[in-house]
Amino acid sequence: MGIQITPSILNADFARLGEEVARIPGADLVHVDVMDNHFVPNLTFGPTMVEALAAVSSVPLDAHLMIADVDRHAVTYVEAGCASVTFHVEAAAAPVRLAREIRSAGARASMALRPATPVDPYADLLGELDMLLLMTVEPGFGGQSFLDLVLPKIRRARALVDAHGGEVRLQVDGGVSPDTIGRCAEAGADTFVAGSAVYSADDPDAMVAELRRLAEAAATEGA
Ligand code: DX5
Ligand code: ZN
Repeated sequence: MGIQITPSILNADFARLGEEVARIPGADLVHVDVMDNHFVPNLTFGPTMVEALAAVSSVPLDAHLMIADVDRHAVTYVEAGCASVTFHVEAAAAPVRLAREIRSAGARASMALRPATPVDPYADLLGELDMLLLMTVEPGFGGQSFLDLVLPKIRRARALVDAHGGEVRLQVDGGVSPDTIGRCAEAGADTFVAGSAVYSADDPDAMVAELRRLAEAAATEGA
């Protein structure tokens, strides 16, 4: 599977989100961070806002739900028009049922792990998933420093995904920048969220292209 760059709008201008999304036409998906002030100590937006964004975005949406009681709310984001919906395993009561509900509602199902959550116990769930998200910061805020301690878990997850043999993407999120993306790609990630790196750049779409170039170069070296 090729490299995908999925910029986060968390550090974009929230007063002009439609225009901000239009600045990254080269992105594969637009990553939307939904936070509820319970699962994480920050609050962003909900399904109404996501639906409005999906209606104007030429790039499909990748919802990252950092919310409690996610079993109850995830399908709402499929109905809002998201192509991919990620729930946190730490917040899900029944991750298998939830992944199946997301898929049968018509989106790709993805499961996220906080930095301290081990991946090995979830190896048998890979058949239920289209993507696995490994957080490389504690979720909640943009602009945090990349946690190198997650790199061994990225390698283990890559081995599990390869052994599984299905088409499961391996996404990393948090502190991904031109300085850190190579390490993630070399470790086996193929899908990259970058928030502040993209939206603090003068030309966000050129930064998307640069991140893609760096990831592709490192993935070739790592292979
Ligand atoms: C953090 C969010 C990330 C965040 C990434 O909880 O899930 O998607 O926006 O931002 P940067 O790239 O600035 O770490
Ligand atoms: Zn995110």
